[in-house]
Amino acid sequence: MPRTLTLPTPDDLHLHLRDGAVLRAVLPQTARVFARAIVMPNLVPPVVTTADARAYRERIAAAVPDGAAFEPLMTAYLTDATDPDDLAAGFEQGVFTAAKLYPAHATTNAAAGVTDVRALAPVFERMQRLDMVLCIHGEVTRPDVDIFDREAVFVDEVLAPLRRDFPELRIVLEHVTTAHAVAFVESADARLAATITPQHLLFDRNAMLVGGIRPHLYCLPILKRDRDRTALRRVVAAGSPKFFLGTDSAPHTRRTKETACGCAGVFSAPVALEAYATAFDDIGCLDRLPAFAAGFGRRFYGLAANPGTVTLEEAPWTVPERVAIDDVDDLRPLFAGEELRWRVR
Ligand code: DOR
Ligand code: ZN
Repeated sequence: MPRTLTLPTPDDLHLHLRDGAVLRAVLPQTARVFARAIVMPNLVPPVVTTADARAYRERIAAAVPDGAAFEPLMTAYLTDATDPDDLAAGFEQGVFTAAKLYPAHATTNAAAGVTDVRALAPVFERMQRLDMVLCIHGEVTRPDVDIFDREAVFVDEVLAPLRRDFPELRIVLEHVTTAHAVAFVESADARLAATITPQHLLFDRNAMLVGGIRPHLYCLPILKRDRDRTALRRVVAAGSPKFFLGTDSAPHTRRTKETACGCAGVFSAPVALEAYATAFDDIGCLDRLPAFAAGFGRRFYGLAANPGTVTLEEAPWTVPERVAIDDVDDLRPLFAGEELRWRVR
């Protein structure tokens, strides 16, 4: 008998769905497993206002495959000009679940992000009063800071002061990658939590750079050292409720990945839960997966449990090489063409 693991239907608490043809190609991949997702707002142009989010939510709803139940949880893209009144109205009307802080130019489509975090004090003040969650891309962008240090410097220079100035604000430090960030989140109170991606649990930077460069493992924050991955693996094995599932599945077409200046993002949606299961099994803590995938995060967001369950079984399968978008281009999933030993039944 193959080993199996049944868990409550999970949520992906950090997801890029894009728009148009890419949205239609990727949404079924997430909706096959996850009931809800925190949807990132870094479209071009970004999802800034309540009206933007309503319209995007409708486009997502229209792309949900027949027979699937999937609820997008919308986020507001914070800019230097965010209107606290519109943000509050969107939250109170149930349009926004959270707001996302991108430091300007930190990552894909972050050009309209925030140039001075301190200047956003009125927005954070308002969010704190509403108990609206702030999701953060935690990297500084100063050119003098090495790309491998950008998260750790952000924690010290931006996140620590922000926590001091807004002690009641609930924050998710998205896609943590370093031992330094893990230690900071662990030592904080329950108002600070973090998401962890499958790639940061599975790989260190050697996997991306030794023996040839693998552009499909290039994401931001960039993969770090083995000791950083070890810190991530340690906290999930410990079952800390402060760390939960957010894939950061970030599709870019093969053409824009396999080029002289490739885009950042790992497209993990087609293998997301299977990849986490592989990681947790490697670590020896498969029993921790249900709470990581379907408990800690939804509780942090104050969401009810989803109906139903999902069952994983240990049965090898080969991941498809590509997910077609249309006739001209395609997406290459994480583990494309490779064998994975866990699959969703
Ligand atoms: O690798 C990444 N890709 N990191 C991000 O923060 C954004 C994402 C994207 O939107 O492509
Ligand atoms: Zn992201």
